[in-house]
Amino acid sequence: MAIILPELPYAYDALEPYIDEETMHLHHDKHHQTYVNNVNAALEKHPEIGEDLESLLANVESIPADIRQAVINNGGGHLNHALFWELMTPEQTAPSAELAAAIDAAFGSFDDFKAAFTAAATTRFGSGWAWLVVNKEGKLEVTSTANQDNPISEGKKPILGLDVWEHAYYVKYRNVRPDYIKAFFSVINWNKVNDLFAAAK
Ligand SMILES: [Fe+2]
Repeated sequence: MAIILPELPYAYDALEPYIDEETMHLHHDKHHQTYVNNVNAALEKHPEIGEDLESLLANVESIPADIRQAVINNGGGHLNHALFWELMTPEQTAPSAELAAAIDAAFGSFDDFKAAFTAAATTRFGSGWAWLVVNKEGKLEVTSTANQDNPISEGKKPILGLDVWEHAYYVKYRNVRPDYIKAFFSVINWNKVNDLFAAAK
């Protein structure tokens, strides 16, 4: 068994005009495929550790040292992107009553959450991700990570994530990351976020 690239849950042009078709092809078919290829190449060196990336990344010390960084980078790259595709949809969705209440409790209001998430995504220097996570105390928290690091390595469960690598937006938005972040809020699949929130509590 090897890890395989999951298909997109919608057409490549389904998120237009917010996320463009060319970006989706490059991002999914090229970038995500490369993470899959590279994590498989790393895991082949240590078949004894299996392929459960969530468990491995939740305990990075368990990964053999000679492939540890490759698994963090490329296994994280695979997990992050596999989640990211599912976190977007062309359909209209909304936070559940439970999630909306938790957002209000943690951030004050939905607009305050949106501002915090936008700030995390905007200020993440270089390549990385912005996240809404359920932390170890069971509370919602906005955070960001560098590169392909996943919050599960810090004991946090991601329920929403935004890729802010330039490859995620440069074709359409060029250097204007804030416009891409704003557009993302038009395609968030809150049904998926609601499910992840319910499972994470
Ligand atoms: Fe990406």
